[in-house]
Amino acid sequence: MRYLIAANWKMNKTVAESIDYIEIFKDLVKEVEGVEIMIAPSFTALSSVSILLEKTNISLGAQNMFYVERGAYTGEISPIMLTELNVKYVILGHSERRHIFGEKDELINKKVLTAVEFGLRPILCVGETLEERELGKTMNVVERQIRAGIAGLEREISLIDIAYEPVWAIGTGVNATVEQAQEVHHFIRNLINDISKGNDKDTRILYGGSVNEKNASELIKAPDVEGFLVGTASLDPQKFYKIILSS
Ligand code: G3P
Repeated sequence: MRYLIAANWKMNKTVAESIDYIEIFKDLVKEVEGVEIMIAPSFTALSSVSILLEKTNISLGAQNMFYVERGAYTGEISPIMLTELNVKYVILGHSERRHIFGEKDELINKKVLTAVEFGLRPILCVGETLEERELGKTMNVVERQIRAGIAGLEREISLIDIAYEPVWAIGTGVNATVEQAQEVHHFIRNLINDISKGNDKDTRILYGGSVNEKNASELIKAPDVEGFLVGTASLDPQKFYKIILSS
């Protein structure tokens, strides 16, 4: 299984800034082998970045999508709008979608099923809040989010990746320790192996939450950490390159 090191730029970078970044970044990573690299820019930059990534070793991702092919859904993005741009991955259920925009497990599941139907590879994001962790509910929350998120896909779970992103580590500079990450990743691995009856071998479990060029080499040592979903640190091409080299 090739580890996946993915950049979630969130609501950052104009088209011009995205182009400038890719022009630098694609040369930095052109000799990198053995690990998969993905960049998820803003929707407005997807088309330009898609063209620049052609014939490179960098995959394209989207930060969200709706679960209908076309229709009266103002402001939404359909799966065919992503596949037309050669998008390979789509981040779904990100904690900001859940906690800022109120997305619930049922909606996220519809998006996951639709993404797979249209040939996209979902990265299903799960993770607990600090309060839930302090109450000892981490595994309950993660299990609920996974079971709900993959409902109807139990035997085809190898078609998706999962990102464990503890909410308390996102954007805070406070990453989970290697032990904390490993504990939850191991739980997730056992859970999806059980749910899928052993069909989970191609599903990667990524860690996200204040990954940077200083902690990546430690976090990647956790046996069940199979890549990263990086926010802030991925906005700088040199830092993201160092994270990739650390992995
Ligand atoms: O999707 C990855 C993101 O939520 C992590 O953000 O800034 O903590 O790396 P950050």
